[in-house]
Amino acid sequence: MKINDFKLEVYFEQYEFSAPYLLTQSDCESMELGQLLALEPGAQEKLMKSWLGYTEVQGNPELRSLVSALYQSIGEENVIMHTGAQEAIFDYMNVLLEKGDHVISMFPVYQSLYEVAHAEGCEVSRWELKAGEQGWAIDFDELEALIRPNTKLIAVNTPNNPTGYTFGEDEMKQLCSIAEKHGIYLFSDEVYRGLELDGNTRPCAADLYDKAASLGVMSKAYGLSGLRIGWVATKDTDMISKMKKFKHYMSICNSAPSEILSIIALNHGDKILQKNKSIIKENLTLADCFFEKYDSLFKNYRPISGPIAFHKMEIDRPIEDFCEDLVRKSGVLLLPANIYSYPGSFFRMGYGRKSFSESLNRFEQYLIEKGLV
Ligand SMILES: Cc1ncc(COP(=O)(O)O)c(C=O)c1O
Repeated sequence: MKINDFKLEVYFEQYEFSAPYLLTQSDCESMELGQLLALEPGAQEKLMKSWLGYTEVQGNPELRSLVSALYQSIGEENVIMHTGAQEAIFDYMNVLLEKGDHVISMFPVYQSLYEVAHAEGCEVSRWELKAGEQGWAIDFDELEALIRPNTKLIAVNTPNNPTGYTFGEDEMKQLCSIAEKHGIYLFSDEVYRGLELDGNTRPCAADLYDKAASLGVMSKAYGLSGLRIGWVATKDTDMISKMKKFKHYMSICNSAPSEILSIIALNHGDKILQKNKSIIKENLTLADCFFEKYDSLFKNYRPISGPIAFHKMEIDRPIEDFCEDLVRKSGVLLLPANIYSYPGSFFRMGYGRKSFSESLNRFEQYLIEKGLV
């Protein structure tokens, strides 16, 4: 399979481990191994006793059981673990799709949700989020109009990367009923679930529709990206067994210590989510002041949920040039819209890190130095 470069990863590779002011990251604040183990008496011993042989292909049963409890009607047999969410996307798309299938993908979105399908020879239509006065919005009539007789899959991401747009309960139900009416599979990337800033949890696609799959991960809301543990939850057990067979050609099984550490983290999941939500809320308050102060230069598209937002800057040069100069001169990393193949001068800002305030200050200093504010 030939596949286009993953633009975001290529961009991050240049700067993620060298730029001192990371103002665009999508994963929440992480922690040291010792901090995770300190959450639970006996956790250290549990880790030390973990067996370093191969693990079950579908994933550690205790971990799958904890993951299934994150849903309303999902059992541990409906969950398959993967090495991060990325491997899970690759597995699902490879198992489901064939050349000539039509796929509808929300847009802008995390690239692999449409790029794997494209690489497999599928035709991909964009279901576009639009930036309006009230923030980002999406139109279900447009979705219906995109459906064709050979539409196999609708791929969505809620809370969305990069906009922070999030389906409400009614919208998720509407989406599932449209997919069901046409017999179309639904892949719902929900990796930022758990970071609902209004306190309202939303239903997961996998709970509402038998041909839906919900994607989850330890990386984002829990901030444990180094564990590389992700999963797909679906009532479609035929899909699970096909994905298991495809996984035989990828990682085969997950890292045993990572599975144990994920079990420990999920045992304290609510606490970790609360901590990360407080960081995001504090940072959003700082950003609100910043954008209000410089409202002629920026349009603040506050996220509904999650740790990222896609804001707009009023500049008369390409946003990618601005971001490139910003990171080279000041060490502040932002993601320009072209990384999402999206037009306009949007950029992604990340709110999940404790260093946000320091990075925002450095950003402001750069704008002052350049005479932009
Ligand atoms: C929407 C979305 N899905 C999937 C992934 C992949 O997650 P992971 O890096 O844990 O594999 C990401 C990572 O940024 C993402 O933003």
